[in-house]
Amino acid sequence: MSDDPIRANNLLWDDWTAIHERSEFYDLEGFKRSGVRLRDYEIAEIGDVAGKDLLHLQCHFGIDTLSWARLGARVTGADFSQAALDLARRVADEIGVPDARFVRSDLYDLPNALDGDFDVVYTSRGVLGWLPDIRRWAQVAAHFVRPGGLFYITEIHPVANAFENEGVEPGELRLEYPYWEHPEPLVFPVIGSYADPTADVVDRTEYGWDHSLGEIVTALIDAGLVIRSLREYPFCSWKLDFLTGGENDTWRLPPDIKGELPLFFSILATKPA
Ligand SMILES: C[S@@+](CC[C@H](N)C(=O)[O-])C[C@H]1O[C@@H](n2cnc3c(N)ncnc32)[C@H](O)[C@@H]1O
Repeated sequence: MSDDPIRANNLLWDDWTAIHERSEFYDLEGFKRSGVRLRDYEIAEIGDVAGKDLLHLQCHFGIDTLSWARLGARVTGADFSQAALDLARRVADEIGVPDARFVRSDLYDLPNALDGDFDVVYTSRGVLGWLPDIRRWAQVAAHFVRPGGLFYITEIHPVANAFENEGVEPGELRLEYPYWEHPEPLVFPVIGSYADPTADVVDRTEYGWDHSLGEIVTALIDAGLVIRSLREYPFCSWKLDFLTGGENDTWRLPPDIKGELPLFFSILATKPA
């Protein structure tokens, strides 16, 4: 195991960015031409962002950040991958959003790298599993919410994360991973990328952490935010091998399975004015 798992993850994300830039999964050329890559439900839950200052935490190469810009927000994206931010800058300039800002920082150091506060602090799809400490994450997120502003996250449900998601059949629910936060990371050898499993990634390791839904919600409350809604969804935004489908970026339990599970969630919270 690396003695610096965050650094190892950073190197992995730098490598993955080059793969994602040309992947069908992200279809960057299509995004440059037009469109908004956000999900309808998150646009509905957050509401009108026109003229608002929006901070996107863990923005990767900015497709979602720039989608918010196309909906009228003044956007800032933050991420620890310089490769991702360099690409985000190029895309922003190419599609005509020169005032988009991108800030390089580890999530936990961001208050030292970025001043100010925001009407909307947004983060989504594949972010929490890279972070060891959910309470410090919530403090950083709350730090940047302007009084009267809002915080929003949509992410894989921690219950869905507890099941083996590779090498199983649709409907095969095999409990495999922790539900509650654990100090030591889970360690995974890297084969390709989630966006292109066949891509060549040389000698990288992925380090991950879990956090329960209760830990996430309590951390946000303890950081001073007021939870306005917590919604649980019966679909995941990406493929897990125990799910089927894929229409409109939603994967679900097979229709013939008995019972239900939450697979994704969203939280909307505000900071008192
Ligand atoms: C799956 S992406 C999330 C963005 C969006 N869902 C997407 O697919 O474009 C996760 C992002 O988290 C970033 N990340 C991981 N660990 C981080 C950390 N400790 N500090 C800042 N960014 C981090 C990665 O660089 C990556 O860009």
